[in-house]
Order: sequence, then C-alpha cells, then structure tokens
Amino acid sequence: MDKILIEGGKRLEGEVAVSGAKNSALPLMFSALLTDQPLRLRGVPDVADIRFAAALLEGLGARIERPAPGEIILDCSRVTSDVADYELVRKMRASFLVLGPLLARFGHARVSLPGGCAIGARPVGVHVAGMKRLGARVEYDSGYVDARAARLKGGHLIMELPSVGATENLMMAASLADGTTRIENAAREPEIVDLADLLGKMGARIRGAGSSTVEIEGVAKLGGADHRVIPDRIEAGTYLVASMITRGDVLVRGARAGDLSALLDALTTAGAEIAPTGDAVRLKMDRRATAVDVQTAPHSGFPTDLQAQFMALMTLANGTSIIRETIFENRFMHVPELGRMGADVTLHGSEAMVRGRSHLTGAPVMATDLRASVCLVLAGLAAEHETEVLRVYHLDRGYERIEEKLSRLGARIRRVPA
Ligand code: UD1
Repeated sequence: MDKILIEGGKRLEGEVAVSGAKNSALPLMFSALLTDQPLRLRGVPDVADIRFAAALLEGLGARIERPAPGEIILDCSRVTSDVADYELVRKMRASFLVLGPLLARFGHARVSLPGGCAIGARPVGVHVAGMKRLGARVEYDSGYVDARAARLKGGHLIMELPSVGATENLMMAASLADGTTRIENAAREPEIVDLADLLGKMGARIRGAGSSTVEIEGVAKLGGADHRVIPDRIEAGTYLVASMITRGDVLVRGARAGDLSALLDALTTAGAEIAPTGDAVRLKMDRRATAVDVQTAPHSGFPTDLQAQFMALMTLANGTSIIRETIFENRFMHVPELGRMGADVTLHGSEAMVRGRSHLTGAPVMATDLRASVCLVLAGLAAEHETEVLRVYHLDRGYERIEEKLSRLGARIRRVPA
C-alpha cells in the first residue's frame, strides 16, 4: 500500500484545475440503469469510487466503454441482475443509489443495507420511507432491502431530513413513476441540480431541483444523453484551503464561487484575499489566519465534506475556534492524528475546540476516511519537517492525481510504496 510523503513549509503558487465532482458522477452513472439507451458522461474523475461504481454496474450487466480520458459510455440495455450485494454496498455506501433506478425500471431491487461506516451510523430510513411512499412494498430480509412495485406511483412526501442520497434515489425512481411526485425538505446540494439536469436530458420532467421542493412528473420511458459532470466543489475548496494554509496565491479553475459561499465567507473572515473570476477563484494569503467558528449544515451551509480541511487551517490560526459538526455524529477521526502533529484540539461531543498554534511538526499519521486524509495532507503542507500519510487508499477514493496537482503548485509531495 502506498504512502504520501510531504516536506512541509512550501508556499503554493500558480493554477490548478479541479476534476469533475465524484459525488455528482456517482448518481449520474447509476442513472444509466433507468434506460436501455447509452449514456455518455464527460468530466468523470479517475478516482477509486468511480472505478468501483463502474465495476458494480458491470456486475449488474452494464456494458461500459471509456472512449477518452474522463469520458464514459454506459449501456444498460441488458441488465442481468437486480441485486447489489453486501460486499459492494459495504465498500461504498453510495452503491445504495442503485435501489431507485433498479426498482423503477425492473419492478424489483434487492440492495444490501450499507451497515456501519467510519463516520457514523448513516442509516437509509429516509430512502426506504420514500420508496414506500411511491408505492413500493419493502421488506428487510437478512441485511437486505427488498423492494417491489410493478410500477411506482407518484406521491407527496416530506423527507424527515434533507438527505442528499435519498433525494437522488427518489428523483431517479420518480422519473419513471406513474404521475407526479413532490419531495419536500429535499436536499439542495449542487449535485442534486446536476442530476436533475441529466435526468431532464434523458426525458424526465423535473422542477425545483436546488430548492427544498422538487417535483418530478413521471414518464413512461427515459432515453440516452450526453452530459458533462459539474466541477468538484469539495476538491476546489480543498485547494483553496491549501493555498491559505501555505500562505500562498493559487487560482483554482472550476471553483464556482456560488457553490462555495459558506467556505469563502469563512476564509475571508479568516483573512484571505479572495477573487472570483468567471469559472475560477483565486485565493491569496500573506499572513497567519485568524480563528473563525464554523458549523456544518446542509447546503448552502458549511459543507461537512470541508470540515476536516478547515480544521487543519484552524490548528495554525491566531486564536481559538469552535468547529461544530451537525451532519455526521463521528466525523472527527482526524483530530487525534492532527494531535500527533502538535495540534491542540479538544472534543466535546459534536464540537471541537481548536486552539491555534504557531506551528505544526511533521509526523507519521494515518488516514481514516476520505476528507480526514486530505486534512492530514493539508496539515503536512504547512508543518515543519516531513509528514508521512499512511493508508492513502482513502485519499484515492476521491482526489484525482492529488500529488501531481500539489507538486505543480510547488509542494514537495510524493507517493512511495509503504
Ligand atoms: C452525501 C455525500 C457525502 C456528504 C453527505 C452530506 C455522496 C456520494 N456523498 O452522502 O460526501 O458528506 O452527502 O453532505 O454524495 N441519514 C439518515 N437516514 C437516511 C439518510 C441519511 O439518518 O436515510 C443521515 C446520515 O446518517 C447523515 C445525514 O443524514 O448523518 C446526511 O446524510 P446524507 O445527506 O444522506 O449523506 P449521503 O447522501 O450518504
């Protein structure tokens, strides 16, 4: 297994382009199950989660071609299975998103419950309640959700909480249902809008995506489409924090300021000079950051997927900040690892008190999940001496060519076999 070595203390400068959004590309790929026509996606990042989703779809009978880098053509004309087993769903929770499209197109789906996950329990009750509201008969059987409906029927549902995955699952299912579905308290993340755009190109009729009420008028059949995935706002935010933590000057191409407003507000308050220009954001920083409190929230609040990265920045800030995690109950696994680098962070339930230090010192640290691992990379960029990040497969799930992108900005970072 590889590890990443970082010699900290280099100021990052220059331009970096973000890849397509992994969290958008996953539901877009699963949408291919809704049609017997080919679906062409562009700007698909080459990361482990995407390769995994492709393997899952192939296991269900899909044919997949990769005509060019970042492009993928999915053909689900001959789906041979409607079962997603435990081994698959356990490895990547987003696999649960095959439930809606399989059920809607084939009348049956059997999908394993994801089970525990490192960042909290992450149950799927909201997905299942929604499917029932659309007329599915759902049974729990030996760790599986077994759902049936000869044809789903549109309905009015109010989600218990604005789950991103449940909103996506239900939008896909409702696109092939009889009649109109109205989802209230829907998630409003940019990835929901991207999915609605793709489903619209496939022939679905969706209104309100990006607001808390989404309406889907079901159609009898969906067709193929050609679609470019939106840029990855979390990757963009990560490079902005990388610029800030190294007191650098970096232009992040593909960063959409409108999708990153909560992060940009926090970074501006912390002292960054931020200039959005067209499809890019430039972040310049020439001094130590000032401590700022943040609290994660559903979009357009501060994203939980940027909480760990922001904490890395706050460990070096002037002053004490409180970081509150409200989306996941156990998303502070980076805290003890940051502590190994000299950070002063105390946890009280869902709150982390971060007392900013003047410096961090490189150390061997262990990645525990995707965002926690990139937080350790960011800390390593700013730390004195060498940081060694182990278990980088977490990083590879969601960051395309991260060492190469950071090296081009001037970081001293390399991957070596552990
Ligand atoms: C998606 C993102 C993930 C991000 C998260 C929150 C993908 C592939 N992943 O995950 O990176 O961190 O949104 O922005 O897009 N919950 C329930 N019951 C349910 C569903 C969710 O209790 O049926 C809870 C979860 O345990 C969690 C919270 O709701 O605490 C948010 O989950 P959700 O929005 O569903 O996240 P994901 O779609 O899994």
